[in-house]
Amino acid sequence: MINRRSFLLTAGAALAVPAFGASAAPAMRKLAAGPGRAQLTGGMRGATDVWCFDGAVPGPELRLPQGVPARIAVENRLSQSTTVHWHGVRVPNAMDGVPDLTQKPIAPGETFIYEFTPPDAGTFWYHPHQRSFEQIVRGLAGALIVEEPAPPLVDRDVTWVLQDWRLLNDGTISGDFGNRMDMAMSGRIGNTVTINGAIPDAFPVRAGERIRLRLINAASARIFALEFSGHTPTIIALDGQPVAPHAPEDGRVVLGPAMRADLVLDLIGQPGQRYPIIDTFYRRLEYRLTDLVYAAEPLREHPLDAPIRLEPNPLREPDIGAAIRHEIAFEGGMMGMMGDGNMMRGMMGMMGGGNMMRGMMGDSHHVWSINGVSAQGHMMTPLLTLDRGKSYILALSNDTAWHHPMHLHGHSFRVMSRNGNPTRHREWRDTVLLAPRERAEIAFVADNPGDWMLHCHILDHQEGGMMGVIRVA
Ligand code: C2O
Ligand code: CU
Repeated sequence: MINRRSFLLTAGAALAVPAFGASAAPAMRKLAAGPGRAQLTGGMRGATDVWCFDGAVPGPELRLPQGVPARIAVENRLSQSTTVHWHGVRVPNAMDGVPDLTQKPIAPGETFIYEFTPPDAGTFWYHPHQRSFEQIVRGLAGALIVEEPAPPLVDRDVTWVLQDWRLLNDGTISGDFGNRMDMAMSGRIGNTVTINGAIPDAFPVRAGERIRLRLINAASARIFALEFSGHTPTIIALDGQPVAPHAPEDGRVVLGPAMRADLVLDLIGQPGQRYPIIDTFYRRLEYRLTDLVYAAEPLREHPLDAPIRLEPNPLREPDIGAAIRHEIAFEGGMMGMMGDGNMMRGMMGMMGGGNMMRGMMGDSHHVWSINGVSAQGHMMTPLLTLDRGKSYILALSNDTAWHHPMHLHGHSFRVMSRNGNPTRHREWRDTVLLAPRERAEIAFVADNPGDWMLHCHILDHQEGGMMGVIRVA
């Protein structure tokens, strides 16, 4: 009953990489960013004007073989300049897609060719880094899968790009991008969650099936905590990087914005039954994301029991004993407001009051800061300069009342501890979700030279100043 086709494809792929990978000139892949229209709500509201890649929401799923040079020509058909950032892929600095910092933004009508060799297999994604709080929110995002030479044997390899939209009744996207309320609080949480660009009522499955489910949180601010009723998924990778296979803590798969999880989902339910997947992250705002809907006919009696542990990627192991330590503190936002309704106290509590008042009442920047500096734009004096090849521990401290998914470009890092307690899996990540008041230590080798962003991936927080540059020289 093993799916012969995926087995044969796997075997073929394993042979193809060494034979053709090194010498062949990479074929050019084209990607166009431009306006489009999407039917997000299945007819419940009208069609939505979006911005998207190749006319689709999400953009096309790019599949690149690990370790093989890739060339992607991005054409800008938008009315404003843009870039593409290959989130989580350890690319050379000039290919990182950060406007002004690593490249000139792509003007309307122009094309930029990105060239890089993805070193790590796994689940990544791509999105603009220019006015992200508008461009991603309007729909510019897509999955980027870097394929292992020999992936684990499964029946289906499925990607879910999760997006969150703030739609008006007529189906148009609410135009209040980057407003100060969203910026100073939880970010832009929408009212419509889609999987691969549509509200999904049902995800058809068969009893005995084994699915590799790649979850990508492409939302601007929404955090997901997914519970699979009647099933126990096994997490095999986080942010594209393999992790010791394990069941999610408390049975919830938690994904902050930009974060990914690869699950192995064994379909152990009853033929003909439905099993809801519930998002329980926000208390009292739980909702049903979709249902696993079993066909009447099982695929086989028991799911496969082939090994599911992934081969590690070629990441350099940080030398913890010799690592140099730096502290990074995140500050800002409205602190008192949600707790005791005392907005003024919250505002005065951050960044010394006066700044905050200006930030809230005047221009919309300077709401958040990193080590006391609130960024405007992507060009700035580096927060830190790290010596290339050395190991570092960054002690991150969330001195705010809000969650922040903090993302470092150009590197993956191990999450070593949270609030002083060692993590169980020392997982590699490119984005670490910090709960309010939480501290985390991350460790990595600064082996990729250049100026790299460290920022919150709640896009309004990023725009509100929660952004810095780390230089590796
Ligand atoms: Cu998803 Cu700075 O990036
Ligand atoms: Cu944030």
